[in-house]
Amino acid sequence: MKLLKKPFHWGVATSALQTEGASYLDGKGPSIWDEFSLRKGKIAGGHTPEIANSFYYRYEEDLDIVQALHIPNFRFSISWPRVLPQGTRNINQKGIDFYDRLIDACLERGITPWVTLYHWDLPLQLELNGGWNNRDILSWFSEYVELMLQKFGDRVSNWMVLNEPLVFTGAGYFLGIHAPGKKGMNSFLSAAHHASLAQAVGIRQIKEHNALFNVGTTYSCSWITPFSDSPNDQQAAVRVDALMNRFFVEPLLGYGYPVKDLPFLKEIEKFYQKDDETLLKATPDFIGIQNYTREVVKHSWFTPYINAKLIDARTRQVPHTLLNWEIYPEGIHSLIHKYAAYPEVKNIIVSENGAAFPDHVTGNEIKDSQRLSYLKNYMLHINRARMDCSKLCGYFVWSLHDNFEWAEGYYPRFGLVHIDYSNQKRTIKESGYWYKNHILNQKYEDKIQHEHQLFNTKEER
Ligand code: BGC
Repeated sequence: MKLLKKPFHWGVATSALQTEGASYLDGKGPSIWDEFSLRKGKIAGGHTPEIANSFYYRYEEDLDIVQALHIPNFRFSISWPRVLPQGTRNINQKGIDFYDRLIDACLERGITPWVTLYHWDLPLQLELNGGWNNRDILSWFSEYVELMLQKFGDRVSNWMVLNEPLVFTGAGYFLGIHAPGKKGMNSFLSAAHHASLAQAVGIRQIKEHNALFNVGTTYSCSWITPFSDSPNDQQAAVRVDALMNRFFVEPLLGYGYPVKDLPFLKEIEKFYQKDDETLLKATPDFIGIQNYTREVVKHSWFTPYINAKLIDARTRQVPHTLLNWEIYPEGIHSLIHKYAAYPEVKNIIVSENGAAFPDHVTGNEIKDSQRLSYLKNYMLHINRARMDCSKLCGYFVWSLHDNFEWAEGYYPRFGLVHIDYSNQKRTIKESGYWYKNHILNQKYEDKIQHEHQLFNTKEER
């Protein structure tokens, strides 16, 4: 008997801090990003997430749009400081009520909620107690996860534990360009090790709560190409690949950190405690990969730790987005296969893909032709991967609407839906309408294929 293809999850993704606003309202505690954004010169344009898309008040209008676009899956994150203002202990009932309403509003519209537990907005109080550098983060996180399971586990069955650990530890605890603005290798390695343990803690905890839940965690990843054939550039590419694409996924899958290809990681062992090698391991149902671009890598003696530098897209004069990220659609197909090659990876979901471009607003129309062409080209490779990689089972566009793009403020727009920040007006962009048609066509084709397979299976019997 032939196996029937598994269902494919089409969706859109958002995060709490980037969209909700209401930063200081209804009992929410401050997050590290609320504090960081008030520091001078940290966020482009001096922007803050205080109002953002006002999703906290406008979630119903936004879910109406998701429904009208026939998008069946909605990924959002829970703001930890909204439900536990100090990070632990005292629960903010109004915060719980908000996510109760949001989840119910999804279900009423036939939209499946996919909850990310940590999308970078750590409660400020926990950072004051050491944040990701303090190993107690594991028990703080576990307390928060337990509360979320108790409150929402009756209606949410799809969970993503962390969003892109390399980015929040690298930019936040090594480079200091994201909250909480810490710098240095020690700070980075301890945050990274605790984040690695936390992803495993979260996965185990959710599965223990309900073995039928669909649980994963997400990773930023970029296809890596050496600048030249020289052995130096080739080896530099291996190191950058280990850092950007393998560092967090391999310990989870049981391989440990990629120390052989990235010798400086050996230092992470000073943060090990008894049994950590085992504790780093867990069995996710899927991994979420988030891909926007590729990186071209050249050897460099001047970059400490990795002796490699990235040659940016403008310098290479290749097509790129507003953020100077190369548009390289075939990379997503290669990455899907790269992760599928790990036997321990059961399923892959592209949990983010999208692009920032300047949009042209003409009255009520938004012709975002560059985003449209970016998505169409990436989709060709998603479709290829659907044909040749049985582990791929979902794709989420980043993002539903334009939002607060971290240190870049509101300037880069990634949305399928435009936000006019002067009055919070939502306008669906051309790319949004295209995605709707794409999903409808794909569902139709999948249905036909499914019926064919059923028919053939019956014939074979
Ligand atoms: C993050 C999003 C972010 C997007 C575009 C991902 O790194 O998960 O929060 O807005 O990429 O930069």
